[in-house]
Amino acid sequence: MEQEVERYRKPTRILHWIHAGAFTILFFTGLILFIPGLGILAQDSWTRVLHRIAAFIFVVAPLIYIPMNWKATWHGIKDAFNWGMDDIGWLIAAPRYYFLADEESMPPQEHMNTGQKMWWLMVIVFGLVFVLTGLIMWAAKEKAPAEVLQWMVLVHDIAFITTGSMFFLHIYLSVIHPLMRPLRTGAWSSMARGKVSAHYAKSHHGKWYERVIKGKEA
Ligand code: HEM
Ligand code: HEM
Repeated sequence: MEQEVERYRKPTRILHWIHAGAFTILFFTGLILFIPGLGILAQDSWTRVLHRIAAFIFVVAPLIYIPMNWKATWHGIKDAFNWGMDDIGWLIAAPRYYFLADEESMPPQEHMNTGQKMWWLMVIVFGLVFVLTGLIMWAAKEKAPAEVLQWMVLVHDIAFITTGSMFFLHIYLSVIHPLMRPLRTGAWSSMARGKVSAHYAKSHHGKWYERVIKGKEA
């Protein structure tokens, strides 16, 4: 049996999948509200109700997770904000890596590579933007001046378009792209089973893997 390395603990995986489910519902119900031609699908306001239920889950899930998993949360935030020369190397090597499978020029990466850090940062920043603008639209619809509400819709829409496109890129890069295979022991497996093969860890997250084998990674 091939040697495996733990990448994501169970609570982190549960949060990821609850969040992914809530986001998917928010995205498609939001899309129906966003595109005027789809208004017919929004009859009886079911999209608005579903959007609000999913928003509640989207907010409450991390609020439950964070106090119970301080260490993992802090680890993730620290990693996402910790940038160095290898990240510049990643940005330069990325086009050849993803389009031409040139793995030689890619510098060894940490637990999160630069692309993953960017996705993490987007999730944190736009997550807060969604919550803030969404709550104002929800709670102050009657009281807030029309101009303020228009601004909230505009900012909510910008967050929707930006994270929406990155969401599909995230799915493509973590599940479909040939370099992230095999499914049973590659990127998909890290979020499905929490583990990847030692070979995958070494070739995709070399710096992190070195620390794991030296026993320096918790
Ligand atoms: C997480 C907290 C969120 C809250 C509290 C929230 C709340 C809301 C509210 C109250 C509306 C107005 C709906 C109405 O017309 O009655 C709205 C609209 C919308 N939401 Fe959200 N939302 C959240 C997250 C998201 C996410 C994650 C997405 C997409 C990925 C999204 C996409 C949209 C879109 C596209 C609209 C339509 C805006 C328009 O009319 O142009 N929302 N949201
Ligand atoms: C529903 C479709 C989704 C699928 C199939 C999916 C799949 C995955 C997989 C396989 C990984 C592990 C990648 C690796 O370790 O190499 C991952 C990581 C991650 N996912 Fe998702 N995900 C989805 C939606 C989301 C959403 C909606 C969010 C944010 C709200 C999100 C946030 C993250 C974050 C922050 C990570 C860790 C950093 C990274 O690997 O990019 N995911 N996802």
